Amino acid sequence: MSSELELEEKINKTETLFGWLWELSVDGMRLLDSLGRIMMVNDAYCRVVEKKKEDLVGKIFSEVYAEPERERLLTSYLIDARSNTIKTHFEREDTLWNGKKCWFDFSNSFIEIPEIGKVTLSIIKNITERKRSELELKDSEEKYRTLFNNANDAVFVTLLSEGKTYGDFIEVNEIACERLGYTKEEFLKLSPSAIILPGYIDEFNKYNEKLLKETHVVYELVHRAKDNHQIFVEVSSHLFTYKGKLTVLSVARDITERKKAEKKLSKTSMRLRNLASHLQSVREEERATIAREIHDELGQVLTVLKIQIALLSNKLRKDQKELKDKLDYVSGLIDSTVGKVQRITAKLRPNILDELGLIPAIEWQANEFQNVTGIQCSLSLPAEEVNLEEEKSTAIFRIFQEALTNVMRHSSAKIVSILLQTINNLMILKINDNGIGINNEQLSASKSLGIIGMKERALLLGGEVIIEGTPGKGTEVKVEMPLTNILKQRVDDDND
Ligand SMILES: Nc1ncnc2c1ncn2[C@@H]1O[C@H](COP(=O)(O)OP(=O)(O)OP(=O)(O)O)[C@@H](O)[C@H]1O
Ligand SMILES: [Mg+2]
Repeated sequence: MSSELELEEKINKTETLFGWLWELSVDGMRLLDSLGRIMMVNDAYCRVVEKKKEDLVGKIFSEVYAEPERERLLTSYLIDARSNTIKTHFEREDTLWNGKKCWFDFSNSFIEIPEIGKVTLSIIKNITERKRSELELKDSEEKYRTLFNNANDAVFVTLLSEGKTYGDFIEVNEIACERLGYTKEEFLKLSPSAIILPGYIDEFNKYNEKLLKETHVVYELVHRAKDNHQIFVEVSSHLFTYKGKLTVLSVARDITERKKAEKKLSKTSMRLRNLASHLQSVREEERATIAREIHDELGQVLTVLKIQIALLSNKLRKDQKELKDKLDYVSGLIDSTVGKVQRITAKLRPNILDELGLIPAIEWQANEFQNVTGIQCSLSLPAEEVNLEEEKSTAIFRIFQEALTNVMRHSSAKIVSILLQTINNLMILKINDNGIGINNEQLSASKSLGIIGMKERALLLGGEVIIEGTPGKGTEVKVEMPLTNILKQRVDDDND
């Protein structure tokens, strides 16, 4: 075979190969002449522009686009072709002849073909889907950024270091910068410990460790701004993996105002509690004084009266019977008045409590209660008197009285069991009735002053009153009082 024949065969083979590539390519291919007429297109191009091959070949290329864009695109092509400066690679959004908007990726090149001259080869890909997801991603990133910066709370993102300790800030929002007085650049050079008040570093470390185990923690902390002022914050931290690294997203809410209000409230309630305690003891003292005075003054006068009347009666003659009967009647009146005075003074402040102690006082009160109400009392008391401070004995006794009054007024009970015992360091008094049973609403009602009074009295001395009711079965009032002294908390008289 001559070498000419061999060359011709090679050219033929190349043409066939080129033909296959042209038709098999998944990208659209188009050849334009220098006037912008379509010389050749492949099937992929037909699919891209949604037209048949026979409607394309020989036509001006811009006819595949919507009417308003056609002239501009053709002019721009003609200018490029004449000046030999075609844009080789670009992405563009076009509207097709059928109104469809699509994103295309163009790769252009000029080719010189003998006898035909300069033609433009374009490879065109439809990248609408990719572009749409890129735009959506950008959109959501922008939304996230806006959210990040417009949040009312300071937001910090830190990357945990190798040792999984503090890590470094990799992102902070505008509120964080504003609140702590750092620029973003300054912030990104800081370690988280730099914005924490030194006394709170241990707390921070503790929650950092918990975060590694549980992946979410909420805790309170005090931040320190650049100018050293303190900010109480509630931090909510989440641990997640970002680009293969352990990352922490923390949102810090400023709770300085809440903290101040809480402190003020707790001081106020402590003051009120102390005031209540003071009023309580003044009331007890007053009752004791009045009881003593009534007993001493009135008791003496009544005794003297009784003696005088007896003397007078003895001086009467036998025939003065009428007068003697009258004196006997007055003497009887005096006796019953003495009894009344004793009852009144006992109500004010039972002598028995001061003289014999808590156990006999409870026994006496239960007896009185049974006599007056007819409700049967069963008692279980310690054999020996327990050594308890007067203030505590009085408190337990008054709580006992209020509990019995409630049984009488509200329970419809037939039996009350009273148990007094000491366990370890606690004196425990239980009053159980078999009545209708108190419910939770009645227990927590703010107007239940009797119950509030019982609880407060115990609380003031380090004790507690627990009340539980079972519907139809009864109510239990349990008083727990520590035997050894727990110091009462007093509010220091400071200036705030
Ligand atoms: N042992 C009990 N059994 C059933 N209900 C009770 C008992 N003790 C209290 N309650 C209910 O709880 C409510 C609150 O009791 P609390 O002692 O606080 O107030 P009170 O007895 O109504 O009035 P006071 O302020 O005069 O004591 C009562 O009104 C009653 O409904
Ligand atoms: Mg009551």
